[in-house]
Amino acid sequence: MQKKLISWYQETHRDFPWRQTQDPYKIWISEIMLQQTTTEAVIPYYERFIKKFPTIQQLAEASLEDVYKMWEGLGYYRRAKHLHETAQIIMDKYHGDFPQHYQDILSLKGIGPYTAGAISSIAFHQETPAIDGNVLRIISRQYLIKDNIALNKTQKKITEIVQDLLIGYDASSFNQGLMDLGATICRPLQPRCEKCPIQESCQAYFHHQEKVLPIHIKNIKHKECHYITGIITYQNQLMLIKNKQGLLENLYGFVQYELESPYSFIEEFMNEYHQSLSIISYIQNIKHVFTHRTWHMHIYHFTVDKPLNHMYTLDEIEKLPLSTAHLKVLKAYLKEKALSH
Ligand code: ADE
Repeated sequence: MQKKLISWYQETHRDFPWRQTQDPYKIWISEIMLQQTTTEAVIPYYERFIKKFPTIQQLAEASLEDVYKMWEGLGYYRRAKHLHETAQIIMDKYHGDFPQHYQDILSLKGIGPYTAGAISSIAFHQETPAIDGNVLRIISRQYLIKDNIALNKTQKKITEIVQDLLIGYDASSFNQGLMDLGATICRPLQPRCEKCPIQESCQAYFHHQEKVLPIHIKNIKHKECHYITGIITYQNQLMLIKNKQGLLENLYGFVQYELESPYSFIEEFMNEYHQSLSIISYIQNIKHVFTHRTWHMHIYHFTVDKPLNHMYTLDEIEKLPLSTAHLKVLKAYLKEKALSH
């Protein structure tokens, strides 16, 4: 499959100006422009930009205003700001040479895993995958993957497949071959299987599923949630509330809010319970993974100066149904308490 795709790419690839260079600087510019913009729209911008700023140094020394001017009409202007800042960082940190290692490339502003993979394979011939929607679609058809491609788990599985496929092959042609195949042949609707260079190995084609796959159900993508989780105590009692609805209906748990600071937690608690809290200490972070959600609980200990409803002793808590997530929180608190005595 790799050989067929690579030969097809080398013989028939689309002729873009950024495909006539090996200069990592120019490949970087093209990949940033192509992040949210179609190839046809990018071509004239790319040519103008490279003419005005032919090297990293010239971009780094330009004014931000001039860079914005060259970006005018392309949209998502943060990309231009990141390019300018990154050019300056490359001058300072890498003496003007674009970094060659995937991890260094990934650490640059405005560059995520896809763009880092594209640059390191196209400019430096490293065997790094560049997974976007096209690749997820092509691979789920080739391998008859019936999992939802919106899920992180599925994306990880496909990334691993592509990593293995790349070993020993020309990653630049392979990755760009996938881009061209996704754009012209293995399209979302009406795939042109009769023209596909890798039809023979395509399991979706074999099983007549090419117009069904990939499965893409957007809203159940795994969500990461960050909470401030409060252990609120009064003497030897802890506050627990019963969930009325949602993920953990009828189970007891600690009060938590989707916030980024324990001080905001105090304000939110005041709004809801009309009671002030004193902050005592940070306990620890605990992660709990549900099917479609991961909770990151940043646990803090607070006290109240008079008893509230919803306060329970440890003996009482033992008899209440707690969610697994908040059992972990309770254990962390008890461990911390035992250590500090
Ligand atoms: N989309 C993102 N990167 C691309 C590239 N190098 N060639 C064509 N389309 C792309």
